[in-house]
Amino acid sequence: MPDKVKTNPSTRRAFLGTAAVTAASYQRILGANDRIGVGFVGFGLIGKQHVADFKKFNDVDIAGVCDVYKPRVDEALAYIANPNTKGYADFRKMYESKDIQGIVVATPDHWHALLTILACAAGKDVYVEKPMTVCVDEGKWMIQAARKHNRIVSVGTQRRHGKGVAAARKVVESGALGKIHSVRMAAFRNIYPGFGKTPVSDPPAGLDYDMWLGPAPKRPYTAHRGLYHFRWFWDYSGGQMTNLGAHIIDQVFWIMDVKGPTLVMSTGGRYALEDDGETPDVQDASWVFPTFTMHCAIREANASRGDPGQAYLGTKGSMTITGSYQVATELKGDPVDDIPKFQGQPIGGPVYSNTAKKPWIEPSSGGVASDSRYGTGGEDTMSMNERDWLDCMRSRKRPLCEVEDGHRVSTACNLANMSLRLGRSIRWDPEKEQVIGDREAAAMCVRPYRAPWDAALRGVVKV
Ligand SMILES: NC(=O)c1ccc[n+]([C@@H]2O[C@H](COP(=O)([O-])OP(=O)(O)OC[C@H]3O[C@@H](n4cnc5c(N)ncnc54)[C@H](O)[C@@H]3O)[C@@H](O)[C@H]2O)c1
Repeated sequence: MPDKVKTNPSTRRAFLGTAAVTAASYQRILGANDRIGVGFVGFGLIGKQHVADFKKFNDVDIAGVCDVYKPRVDEALAYIANPNTKGYADFRKMYESKDIQGIVVATPDHWHALLTILACAAGKDVYVEKPMTVCVDEGKWMIQAARKHNRIVSVGTQRRHGKGVAAARKVVESGALGKIHSVRMAAFRNIYPGFGKTPVSDPPAGLDYDMWLGPAPKRPYTAHRGLYHFRWFWDYSGGQMTNLGAHIIDQVFWIMDVKGPTLVMSTGGRYALEDDGETPDVQDASWVFPTFTMHCAIREANASRGDPGQAYLGTKGSMTITGSYQVATELKGDPVDDIPKFQGQPIGGPVYSNTAKKPWIEPSSGGVASDSRYGTGGEDTMSMNERDWLDCMRSRKRPLCEVEDGHRVSTACNLANMSLRLGRSIRWDPEKEQVIGDREAAAMCVRPYRAPWDAALRGVVKV
């Protein structure tokens, strides 16, 4: 992996690419009025949220907005209501604009990597939505492009900015929970029977479907292979594992300070929903790290367990995170007293000591309570992440949610989906970032891009 980010392990902040773009030289690029021109690719559910947020930043000019669905460009321009904002149907035209220093990518997932890579090559900094990639190697290419062109690339895994998450990280660092041997998380909801089936049809007027597909394989249009519902099709996304998993796994990676697992296994299928989606409605995945295991359970057609957020299970205490965090103690006792008593041990068996149990640690809690599924409750972490990106564009420092973080998290999600689709576990080398001993799995780390996008990719990065 390229190593131009100078990482300070204690703060995880670092100066980026000081050789080519310093904070001082960047100020010159911005010009006299010191404002940052931002262009948006994708004005969908979350693109519109980003535009709404950036409108509130008083050092930003919304210089351009691009969408392959023309009615959305029109809606965006009306919403932004600034005569200086330009609308685009083709991002390549917007990337040529000298008025734009930063690009926000909020398209379906299969476009994230290429749009980021081409923006870096065009000299723009990038805020790219999660999940960062649809296959493992895309993340390596994005890092390559960011380092080669000295760009600031932030990823939309904003929940790291939550006060509760930062405080929870300190709890883990302090060692208060003892040995944390497992992390468990879940995303449960009930959307039975699903979103229905949509027949093959012509794309709606104003949608450039070929451009929407971009690097993905050519397929006949159905409404679900388009706006919003793309996330339930393998060509464009990875289901809830990448959709919600990217958020919660990102927090675990940050809190536990890990690079990646050594073994990944996942099972599940689309058992209950009766629509035309492809990705699982039941998925269980386990990742093995040197000192702990991580498990994620996803259910799309039963919400009974609710969404417990994440649980960090240690020898002395457990911590749950649902925006805020709560620490509960384990009880310290004599292990022998945990053996069932029934009629008592016959002669020669273990001898009970009947020692009174005492708490190992004090309970504690902190942070702002939040909707654990969407993370939008008590704090506006998305705005914090956007602000962090803008500030890092000026300072050329490492954002809190940086491209390398996004790559590791997406890799964990993608490996789980690869395991599920292959029907076997995958061994992984987190240092070399390679599958071990499985050619079929290794081949799944790359997805071929459809022409002409394969050439566009190869024009910027070594694939
Ligand atoms: N960070 C978060 O909390 C969060 C929340 C929701 C969604 N997301 C992510 O945001 C992304 C978008 O999700 P959404 O729900 O907004 O999808 P959406 O379908 O509502 O919007 C995507 C938009 O991108 C446009 N588009 C597609 N290809 C394009 C291209 N080449 N150039 C320009 N426009 C293009 C589409 O026409 C559409 O308007 C997804 O990757 C999703 O995972 C992140």
